[in-house]
Amino acid sequence: QKLTEKYRPQFHFSPEEKWMNDPNGMVYFEEEYHLFYQYHPSGTIWGPMHWGHAVSKDLIHWEHLPVALHPDEHGTIFSGSAVVDWNNTTGFFDDEPGLVAIFTHHDTYPETDTVRQRQSLAYSHDKGRTWIKYEGNPVLSDPSMTDYRDPKVFWHQPTSKWIMILATGQCVTLYTSPNLIDWEFASQFGDHDGSHAGFWECPDLFPLQVDQDPSNQKWVMIVSIGDTGEFSEGSRTQYFIGDFDGTTFKNDNDAKNVLWLDYGRDNYAGVSWSDIPESDGRRIYLGWMSNWRYANHVPTTDWRGAMTLPRELNLVSTTNGIRLIQKPVTEVNSLRENGFHHDEEVIVNTHPLSITLDDALQEINIEVENIDSSVIDCVIKHSNTEETLIRYDTEKEELTVDRTNSGEHSFSSSFQAIQHAPLSMVHNRIKLQVFLDTSSIEVFANDGIAAITSLIFPTEGSEKLELSSQRGSVKIHSLQLTKLTSIWV
Ligand code: FRU
Repeated sequence: QKLTEKYRPQFHFSPEEKWMNDPNGMVYFEEEYHLFYQYHPSGTIWGPMHWGHAVSKDLIHWEHLPVALHPDEHGTIFSGSAVVDWNNTTGFFDDEPGLVAIFTHHDTYPETDTVRQRQSLAYSHDKGRTWIKYEGNPVLSDPSMTDYRDPKVFWHQPTSKWIMILATGQCVTLYTSPNLIDWEFASQFGDHDGSHAGFWECPDLFPLQVDQDPSNQKWVMIVSIGDTGEFSEGSRTQYFIGDFDGTTFKNDNDAKNVLWLDYGRDNYAGVSWSDIPESDGRRIYLGWMSNWRYANHVPTTDWRGAMTLPRELNLVSTTNGIRLIQKPVTEVNSLRENGFHHDEEVIVNTHPLSITLDDALQEINIEVENIDSSVIDCVIKHSNTEETLIRYDTEKEELTVDRTNSGEHSFSSSFQAIQHAPLSMVHNRIKLQVFLDTSSIEVFANDGIAAITSLIFPTEGSEKLELSSQRGSVKIHSLQLTKLTSIWV
């Protein structure tokens, strides 16, 4: 099918029509990646939530499927996860393993009209095409909690138990279960850790090797922080690194230390895929490419909402400690059509090196060595009047993506923004990998140590790339522009 409306992402997932927010239930099963998502099938703004559904063989090309979960007598269907019940712990799968979705039922108390959130199950015998709601729903509730949602569940081999991490106000709560049905409180984390600029949502918890060393494993906890209006950036995502013993998570870092997963405005509610085969071994993440500050107002027509590119997560040791790095999954290479390669080293200064972009869909790879400049600029000229500026400040050691002049922004006074990421040079160099779609830009710097994900709404695509520096010169070691193809043709 062809999706070609103005601003329609051409290589990022978006629903065929109507409103989408968080990714949900991401699970790999029988050679398919499943992507469910918060969906309002009858409106282009947030409304009664369903789970929309799509599948992919390669994480890049998606097939839209009918709505998977509809609201029922327990309420609408908020965010959650899905797992393969390989050993039939639930008793739902006598014949062969199948999928179980663990999600939040959202409604109000009949007497008082105050919000009620409880966790429920649904299961599928046909690779997620149809679902049966568990008759004992909800399986987990706590009347003392109002914000009680977004269960992410995984199997913990060492203790032979399912673990659920749940967003509970300004912290997360962990539960364990033998069968996904009976849940027992394990611990709470976060009252005093990390950022509390907003309520906590959509947590995730998983192990990763440090520096690809199988004997050095750490646990990563991802927590999205809701937009309360007080925080200038709106919705954001933080992460923690530590240890997890099946009951308790222990943060390795100082409680006051905040680690950001992304320095752009538009990467929210992201979590990782469940049940990726061990032979693959990757931890693959994807987020909702928007921000509650303006998500309901972005200037798209028939649909609203897109996802980030799927990203592989890894841990590396740095001089500041262990950090999460991310890079787009290698499957994005299948989008590459033809390229322009500038192999000679070029010295650039205030007079820009200008290159024509023959298509709005681009991957740009640049490696620049600073000689004696104060600022390195990489400007994407959308037209004579619109541009997105990627800038590295060699003195502040900071990378910024400035979208104040990228295009349409009148739909929200919060949209015009300069997005900042701290970034050190490596041997005096910076390396950028940039993905440019019709209405977004994703910048991965120095092998993914910093990511900036940002929506942009240029009225006319992209025309030119201009590289320059200020107060001195830089050497461009490599520059590659690759035209990407649409996934919708
Ligand atoms: C995050 C969130 C979740 C909730 C869902 C509702 O964006 O607020 O906490 O489950 O969206 O659509």
